[in-house]
Amino acid sequence: MDYFRYVKGRLYCEDVPVEEIARAHGTPTYVYSRRTVVDHFHRITEAFSQVETLVCYSVKANSSLAILDAMRREGAGFDVVSAGELFRALKAGADPGRCVFAGVGKTDEEIDFALARGIFLFNVESWGELEAIDRLARARGTIARIALRLNPDVDPDTHTFITTGKKENKFGVDLKVAAGILERWSELSAVRLVGIHLHIGSQILKVEPYVEALTKVGPFLAACRARGHEIAWIDMGGGFGIFYKDKQARPAGEFAAAVAPLVKQYGCRLILEPGRFIVGNAGILLTRVTYLKESGNKVFVICDAGMNDLIRPTLYSAYHRIWPAVTDAAVEGEPPDENAWKGPSVIADVVGPICESGDFFAKDRALPPARRGDLLAVFSAGAYGFSMASNYNSHPRPAEVLVSGGDVHLATERETLEDLVRKERIG
Ligand code: LLP
Repeated sequence: MDYFRYVKGRLYCEDVPVEEIARAHGTPTYVYSRRTVVDHFHRITEAFSQVETLVCYSVKANSSLAILDAMRREGAGFDVVSAGELFRALKAGADPGRCVFAGVGKTDEEIDFALARGIFLFNVESWGELEAIDRLARARGTIARIALRLNPDVDPDTHTFITTGKKENKFGVDLKVAAGILERWSELSAVRLVGIHLHIGSQILKVEPYVEALTKVGPFLAACRARGHEIAWIDMGGGFGIFYKDKQARPAGEFAAAVAPLVKQYGCRLILEPGRFIVGNAGILLTRVTYLKESGNKVFVICDAGMNDLIRPTLYSAYHRIWPAVTDAAVEGEPPDENAWKGPSVIADVVGPICESGDFFAKDRALPPARRGDLLAVFSAGAYGFSMASNYNSHPRPAEVLVSGGDVHLATERETLEDLVRKERIG
């Protein structure tokens, strides 16, 4: 249960009708349920309790300080991919000793920033990066802990843009290159190899690719140990899929049942980097209908949110349920899928104000007839929503609100027109 439900035709986030939030804070606004975030975090920690696990919430999914703070309070570590994300996590009170840093393009400045703060682990993606970390760690008189990111060449069966563990992807190194890195390890003096990192993709709905990846890296792990590296950690990355359209997402327990025994067999502790699983279904994007129009035998529902606020439909052809926040229909409980709707419906494209034909949230979607001023909820928007938002077409970015029970906390103020030009100078 994701704490978004209809009661007498009004959508609630926890104990608050979302129309009240729209009235108080305007639209477009991201609304998050704290209880859902916390609940999903614990689903993972409980599922993996059979093996010692450090859950590092993946900051990229939703990097708002209020969310990071909620995660930290529950005991999460953080997976970051830039100095900016590490900065955010630290601002939210994160213990650097529970932060892991991945990414193929870490700059010297970013590495040094992370070294200075004493992060737990660098997930290293190339020999060049390893040399850079070694050089910078030596200059600081410190030793950096390293997990080598391997590309196991497995197909996670997800969108090509969010597949990361196939051999043609830029992430990690293949097993042959990894063996070469191992050969040359003695050239380095300020890095310690303590783990193996694998992140094979995102929105993964099967456990098999994880098992395949883990199995494939076994010989490399043994080779590391044979050379005297104490491999204590396997970082499996994130990727657990969630419910967007059909209830196809696997419970955390299924991943745990497949992964944990292998990790134990390898005599390792586990790091997980879930993002979407924790925040994806914890957020909606609230938007108002600005206009309705018919043209070229289509109906367009034009909203005040656009692809600049939520780019997933445009970028990945992602499906997000969309439903009025207030409806006359007696829809009780969880938000319905479009097939459950019994009343009259219109087939419409739900679009935004951006000057791009790719600016849509849904195409040919059956919706209850909408009117100008109606409030719509775009569901499952908590992950990769606001964190990927931009100012394209010079739209200020939306507000973010975190609901906890009956409490509504304005987590991020809506940007103003002045904010758009604050850093700019003429001449
Ligand atoms: N760890 C690493 C190294 C990653 O690259 C990612 C995501 C994660 C963890 C978290 O993955 P998650 O548990 O959230 O699946 N913008 C895309 C998703 C891109 C994922 C990038 N890496 C989307 O909206 O679907």
